[in-house]
Amino acid sequence: MNKYHVTTTINGDEVEFLCEPEQTLLDVLRDDLQLTGSKEGCASGDCGACSVMLDGRLVCACLVLAAEAGGREVETIEGMADGEELHPLQQKFLEHAALQCGICTPGVLIAAKALLEKNPDPTETEARYWLAGNLCRCTGYDKIIRAVLDTAADMRGS
Ligand code: FES
Ligand code: FES
Repeated sequence: MNKYHVTTTINGDEVEFLCEPEQTLLDVLRDDLQLTGSKEGCASGDCGACSVMLDGRLVCACLVLAAEAGGREVETIEGMADGEELHPLQQKFLEHAALQCGICTPGVLIAAKALLEKNPDPTETEARYWLAGNLCRCTGYDKIIRAVLDTAADMRGS
């Protein structure tokens, strides 16, 4: 079968890859580009573990065809820290112990970043509603929400 030649931007770098028509962006990120931070929890758009930004919009990478990424800007968890410097959300997640595993956490962080870019001063209800699509089965959501609201407060103050 013919493959698509895709040129896209991932975390600020121009990237080229070949993909099958039915391959998802998540598959290509993980299997071909070794960007394994985005996780596959369900492959059906239900868990949020594969969350990435596509042209500034939060999407499930398991529901996006890799070929659709052509000419667009993709942001993944690998691009969230600035070199050795963690993003404020990553730092607050550590301080609040708002995570246990590596399956849900990357998606939660990407979704939380998208929230704060859209709404720098979310209420607790807004934060909970926004993150409702990111499922965590072990740590509960309270610490996550506290970390997000604490980050928002810090970022507004700086
Ligand atoms: S793996 Fe994409 S939403 Fe679950
Ligand atoms: S911390 Fe990842 S599923 Fe709960």
